[in-house]
Amino acid sequence: MLGNFTYCNPTKLYFGQNALDGLNEELPEYGKNVLLVYGGGSIKKNGIYDKVVAILKSNDKEIFEDAGVMPNPTVDKLNEGIARARAAKADLILAVGGGSVCDYAKAVSVSVHCHDDPWEKYFIRFEEPSCEIIPVGCVLTMVGTGSEMNGGSVITNHAQKQKIGHVFGEKVFPKFSILNPEYTFTLPKYQMVSGIYDIMSHILEQYFSGTDDNTSDYIMEGLLRSLIHSANIAVENPTNYEARSNIMWTATWALNTLVAKGKTTDWMVHMLGQAVAAHTDATHGMTLAAVSLPYYRYILPYGTAKFARYAVNVWGVDPHGKTEKQAADEGLARMETWMQKIGLVMNITELGANEAMLDGIVKSTHIMDGGYKILDATDIRAILQASL
Ligand code: NZQ
Ligand code: ZN
Repeated sequence: MLGNFTYCNPTKLYFGQNALDGLNEELPEYGKNVLLVYGGGSIKKNGIYDKVVAILKSNDKEIFEDAGVMPNPTVDKLNEGIARARAAKADLILAVGGGSVCDYAKAVSVSVHCHDDPWEKYFIRFEEPSCEIIPVGCVLTMVGTGSEMNGGSVITNHAQKQKIGHVFGEKVFPKFSILNPEYTFTLPKYQMVSGIYDIMSHILEQYFSGTDDNTSDYIMEGLLRSLIHSANIAVENPTNYEARSNIMWTATWALNTLVAKGKTTDWMVHMLGQAVAAHTDATHGMTLAAVSLPYYRYILPYGTAKFARYAVNVWGVDPHGKTEKQAADEGLARMETWMQKIGLVMNITELGANEAMLDGIVKSTHIMDGGYKILDATDIRAILQASL
């Protein structure tokens, strides 16, 4: 562990089949006006909406609704939400949904009492909030992003062809999150496996950085093995509670800041995936799946030892009689087979991208410097070309 860091995670979690009871414990802590934020209606179909509203009413809350948060929430929707939260004089923003709803709630929470343009302030200039922040609570219905226990908020600006995430500090983390694995049973398979790959990518993008001996890497190898094991079960039997609960818990630990400690972290798969999404509006985890192997094969020569360790410790490759490069290649080949087996999208063409869009996608890609190779525009184009 060579890093210098501080660690604090202020989000309180309620986990399991009775997790929603935690809402009764939390609500008395906040004022009367609750802005109930949700997406396109899945929570009305599966009954979660009715359960949440009943608890809000029994706690004597005034409910103001903000529905229709889309996957990859937009800056236009954010501006609408800010106006709604102001009109409601919201004391608490309760997000009921997936990462998009939770991210959006955080973006609203830091913007209501701020009179700057939120897109410019938080997503272009990356400033921290200097105004009062409305507390956010989450009831999670889709697993993958880790938004339930972090300060991340990703907003899309279609006019500017940008999808940008701001990782806010502790004050913006949800105050509490409710994690009932059963709430994820109604997810379509496409969303479930997309979320599974989002989790995997979060772990890998922290793992593939640094060369020191680091406890975080050992934790991540364990998380990856659990994820692969449970994903195999969940794909066959989506209502297997044990598997879905493990996936939910792994998602939270993959991106609640713990395993990043002491790591420089890479995040280029997310930068590439977000750029693809800025041009296609494709599902988050699928954008990551589609660019991952071309990216990892491209940077493998700069971090071969770590890729070989990954192959052995996560994919069970036998290193005997093999060079590091051979072991590393075999690990990525096993990963590729597994990704295909669980039903991930393996190229950006299937997500709506084409060759004519590549220059634009390159321009939308933000370059990070924590991984094994700092990319330039030529590298990015080559990776995207290989992802078509
Ligand atoms: O809108 P509804 O009708 O609710 O449908 C949603 C949506 O269409 C549906 N869904 C959610 N729960 C369901 C369900 N359908 C049936 N049953 C349920 N229980 O699933 C669809 C996708 O939901 P969404 O919230 O968009 O998915 P996800 O959780 O993957 O969130 C994606 C967003 O999070 C950002 C992504 O960039 C993207 O904008 N991320 C946030 C991060 C963070 N906060 O740290 C990090 C991630 O890397 C990611 O970038
Ligand atoms: Zn992600």
